[in-house]
Order: sequence, then structure tokens, then C-alpha cells
Amino acid sequence: MERTLAIIKPDGVARALIGEIIGRLEREGINILALRMIWMTEDQARGFYKVHAGKPFYESVTRFMSSGPCVVMVLEGKRVINAYRKLMGATDYREAAKGTIRHDYATDIEKNVVHGSDSPESAAFEISYFFNELEIFKR
Ligand code: CMP
Repeated sequence: MERTLAIIKPDGVARALIGEIIGRLEREGINILALRMIWMTEDQARGFYKVHAGKPFYESVTRFMSSGPCVVMVLEGKRVINAYRKLMGATDYREAAKGTIRHDYATDIEKNVVHGSDSPESAAFEISYFFNELEIFKR
């Protein structure tokens, strides 16, 4: 079993897509071990996306991620990092496969509705950024 961090971004929350996205996770058999709604400060968003510091989109994405509430979740499943990335679709929605969340709902490379960790190392960092072990359900 593997864990990953998922975020429903401010555009997904504002467009009332929380239920739709959680429904897709549940139908895929992915377990939700922790879930919370948060509104990040710009500094918190900068810390979360620190691997992207210096990239051309860093200022803009951190401003966007602190522009409204997000839903953060810890997911668990067999090879869930890849399984959830498959559900999300490519970062650039124009390249996202049909039926993926980003294909169906993203409007822009930044307003792409959801985030997911891209490796076990980033999952460990990203989960611990928002949750401590006591907040994560143990099955
Ligand atoms: P996410 O998976 O949350 O990781 C970094 C985010 O930066 C990405 O999704 C996009 O929302 C945003 N972003 C904006 N422009 C780019 C870009 N050119 N390449 C990658 N990510 C970008």
C-alpha cells in the first residue's frame, strides 16, 4: 500500500467540484485516510511548491493556490501515486486523456482543478506539510 497527497485546488472548490472529484476517487477504490479544507497563505503555498521555486510559473501558482480554499487529502491504495495521477490527467489539460479530471474540468494549465504528488519522496514531504500522523486514519 502506498500513500499520496491530493489537493482540490481553489478553482475546483469554487466550481463546486468537491463531490465530483471525491466520487471519482471512491469509485476507483482509492481510500481517503485524511481530509481537511484549508486556505493557505501565500507563504504556505510557497513552502508547499518550493521544488518549483525560480520557475517562471512559481509566483503565479503560489498566488493562485492562496486565492481561496482548497481541500487537502491523504489517499491510500495500491500504487496510488500513479493511479491518482492517471485519474487527474496531464498537468496541461490540453494533453489530458479523455475522461480524466483535468480533461473534463481544467480551464488552464494553472487552474487545473487538482494536484497530486509525483513520487514517493514528494508524497512524504507533501503529506507531512499538511497532516501529522495522528490525523491520518489507520486501517
Ligand atoms: P501541480 O501538479 O499542482 O504542480 C505545479 C503546478 O504549477 C501545476 O500543477 C500547475 O497548476 C502550475 N503550472 C503553471 N504553469 C505550469 C507549467 N508551465 N508547467 C508545470 N506546471 C505549471
